[in-house]
Amino acid sequence: MMNASSLPKKVSIFEVGARDGLQNEKPVTTQDKLKLIEQLADAGVKRIEAGSFVSPKWVPQMADSKDVFNALNNQSGIRKAGVVYSALTPNLKGLELALDAGADEVAIFGAASETFSQRNINCSIEESIVRFEPVMALAKARNIPVRGYVSCVLGCPYEGDIDINEVARVSEILYKMGCYEISLGDTIGVGTPIKARKMVEAVAKLVPVEKLALHFHDTYGQALANIEACLSTGISVVDSSVAGLGGCPYAKGASGNLATEDLVYMLHGMGIETGIDLTKLAKAGNQISLALGRPNGSKVAQAISA
Ligand code: HMG
Ligand code: MG
Repeated sequence: MMNASSLPKKVSIFEVGARDGLQNEKPVTTQDKLKLIEQLADAGVKRIEAGSFVSPKWVPQMADSKDVFNALNNQSGIRKAGVVYSALTPNLKGLELALDAGADEVAIFGAASETFSQRNINCSIEESIVRFEPVMALAKARNIPVRGYVSCVLGCPYEGDIDINEVARVSEILYKMGCYEISLGDTIGVGTPIKARKMVEAVAKLVPVEKLALHFHDTYGQALANIEACLSTGISVVDSSVAGLGGCPYAKGASGNLATEDLVYMLHGMGIETGIDLTKLAKAGNQISLALGRPNGSKVAQAISA
């Protein structure tokens, strides 16, 4: 058990439900997405990934991201002051679309697994780095912060175990390219606590720990345990998805991202602040679950809504 004094006082939650979650659900309307994003901001969420500018042939669920950002910027009452609305951009075309639509910040995404890189963005790890260079340059010229994701940090659906030194190597490259934060993705949720902490410790040797975030999927039910094991390393940013939105494309029927309600409940119970109102958050999760015609994937939301 960790010493309470080594825990962060505050954790910044990066909400990915409207992107990572909804990209793996059946399509919902743009209005449903906007309502979700509005309710998340009302609940106190300050960082919201609102969509992605990727090929609509690859991810049709995100094809209306332009409309989402247009509404956030032009429809009165939707954008909330102090909230950052971000978008995923795999290449220059994606960044140009995100800039036109008015995203506040963007994210590039690489992988620590060669095969996953090929299957997800249709190029090798090294090619992806080359592709990100003009993205970083244009973002810098436009003063747009760029976040960097590294996928498969605790395992790959195609390659199995991943070397933590490779995770550290790719993370350092993205950081040195100018990403302000590196989000470590356990894309298929296979990690366990000791492995998760060792992975973070390996990355923290090359990238300052305060620049790292945890992005743990809950496919094997380990995400909360993994996060708890990593909080004593100095990490204080965690990604999660309201209502546990998002299935796992590599394990049909399995759950996707960790539910934000479960994360907030655990952190508050540990005396760690998030600035989020759990009751309002659960309402946002219940609303989008209703639109999807599925139960809320958060155990905490189910318990407090009962
Ligand atoms: P490609 O086929 O190699 O790209 O795909 P291309 O440059 O040859 O272009 C092919 C077509 O796509 C062209 O259109 C382009 O215009 C279009 P066509 O001439 O055939 O009509 N295109 C685009 N359209 C819209 N937006 C763009 C864009 N770029 C090209 N940005 C590409 C390469 C990267 C585009 C493709 O592989 C792709 O879209 N991949 C995205 C996959 C994705 O979104 N995956 C999920 C997100 S990652 C994730 O969830 C993991 C994360 O959560 C962390 C974790 O959990 O580990 C972040
Ligand atoms: Mg993810």
